[in-house]
Amino acid sequence: MPFSISLTVNGVSRNVELDDPRVTLLDLLRERLDLPGTKKGCDRGQCGACTVLVDGRRVNSCLALALSHDGAEITTIEGVAQGDELHPVQAAFIAHDAFQCGFCTPGQIMSAIGLINEGQAGDDPERIREAMSGNLCRCAAYVGIVDAVIEAQKRLADAGR
Ligand code: FES
Ligand code: FES
Repeated sequence: MPFSISLTVNGVSRNVELDDPRVTLLDLLRERLDLPGTKKGCDRGQCGACTVLVDGRRVNSCLALALSHDGAEITTIEGVAQGDELHPVQAAFIAHDAFQCGFCTPGQIMSAIGLINEGQAGDDPERIREAMSGNLCRCAAYVGIVDAVIEAQKRLADAGR
């Protein structure tokens, strides 16, 4: 028997029928909702490539069952820019060369947005590294990532966001 769930994804209501209650939020986004920006790295909660925001909080979507998120508000990397205007975190990642291959970048950016929203980013690089430690980067772009988080946080604060 299929299971029906309703989600708001990037501001749009989506109703989905699931044939299998074990479908993860990650697979739902990528395979059913045509949102491949969220990456599948380890698929076991160890790399952070699949990070999305669920009701504003950072979540590894590979560990989240879609079925248990009925009614949730999901934000993916596809939903953070406003039209042609990049989100300040996206812009800061570009300004600071905070990526090389780019595979981890959507997850890094979502985690950074979540961290800043949580109000716990601060400007201490060690603290930011710790708070982003669930997001691995095989290209070791960590210095740029931390710089980008600090700058984006400042830009958002200056803009009152
Ligand atoms: Fe989810 Fe690695 S793909 S943590
Ligand atoms: Fe390549 Fe992070 S930029 S894994």
